[in-house]
Amino acid sequence: MTRLSGKRALITGAARGIGLAFARAYLAEGAVVTIADIDLPRAEAAAAEIGALAVRMDVTRQDSIDAAVAEAVAKMGGIDILVNNAALFTAAPLTEITRADYDRVFSVNVAGVLFTMQAVARQMIAQGTGGKIINLASQAGRRGEALVAVYCASKAAVISLTQSAGLNLIAHGINVNAIAPGVVDGEHWDGVDAFFAKYEGKAPGQKKAEVGAAVPFGRMGRAEDLTGMAVFLASSEADYIVAQTYNVDGGNWMS
Ligand SMILES: NC(=O)c1ccc[n+]([C@@H]2O[C@H](COP(=O)([O-])OP(=O)(O)OC[C@H]3O[C@@H](n4cnc5c(N)ncnc54)[C@H](O)[C@@H]3O)[C@@H](O)[C@H]2O)c1
Repeated sequence: MTRLSGKRALITGAARGIGLAFARAYLAEGAVVTIADIDLPRAEAAAAEIGALAVRMDVTRQDSIDAAVAEAVAKMGGIDILVNNAALFTAAPLTEITRADYDRVFSVNVAGVLFTMQAVARQMIAQGTGGKIINLASQAGRRGEALVAVYCASKAAVISLTQSAGLNLIAHGINVNAIAPGVVDGEHWDGVDAFFAKYEGKAPGQKKAEVGAAVPFGRMGRAEDLTGMAVFLASSEADYIVAQTYNVDGGNWMS
């Protein structure tokens, strides 16, 4: 398939999980893909396995964002598609949230998304041929959760940033949209499960089983369940779609 033939994609946090599934899907559609991750050895190993490129990128540091974007441009000749996928999860009762944890999560999930969008948008505007930006929000951005204040707020911010950036950048032919996954199995959710084991006294794996059973579709998501939307939003079929966030969550949330 060649829906992204000739397109050059940069995907943050794509050394594993959802971002890596997107990298595979974009390659299968004919794109050139750069995996950008703070974990360079893992990014390089994943890239070598699937036929992508890899760069080191820490989205919390402006010098790292600038260097990674420059390196990706040097390797691919430009950037037509950006996926802001890197994120951290955290959970705690409100009375136990620390300022350090808030700063850590917001610097990746919010500032990382904003300033990576900015750096790549400048590149896309200079190229003069538009582009596609896809941000990873979450069902957690649609409403708060008792133990998940910081992560939920960070994902609500991603939905809002997608709206503002989408309205601003469409003047340059750059579509900014977001995907809001529900519960997707993988290393991320292993970490989520451990938080709930700690704060709700659950056995390891119990929360995961419960949230999977509660999905209207009947199971947890897999990274591959999201790739159809990721390819669509990166393709010319989505040219008239601006500043939206799409739920791909087996029916968990309706909006
Ligand atoms: N898995 C889920 O259930 C789920 C649900 C809703 C939304 N999401 C969102 O989807 C996206 C991908 O989720 P996932 O499950 O693949 O996560 P993951 O934790 O498996 O992968 C995240 C990747 O980001 C990288 N990363 C972390 N900090 C970074 C930094 N400072 N700079 C660059 N890279 C960094 C990590 O090395 C890792 O490779 C995230 O935005 C997440 O919040 C996931």
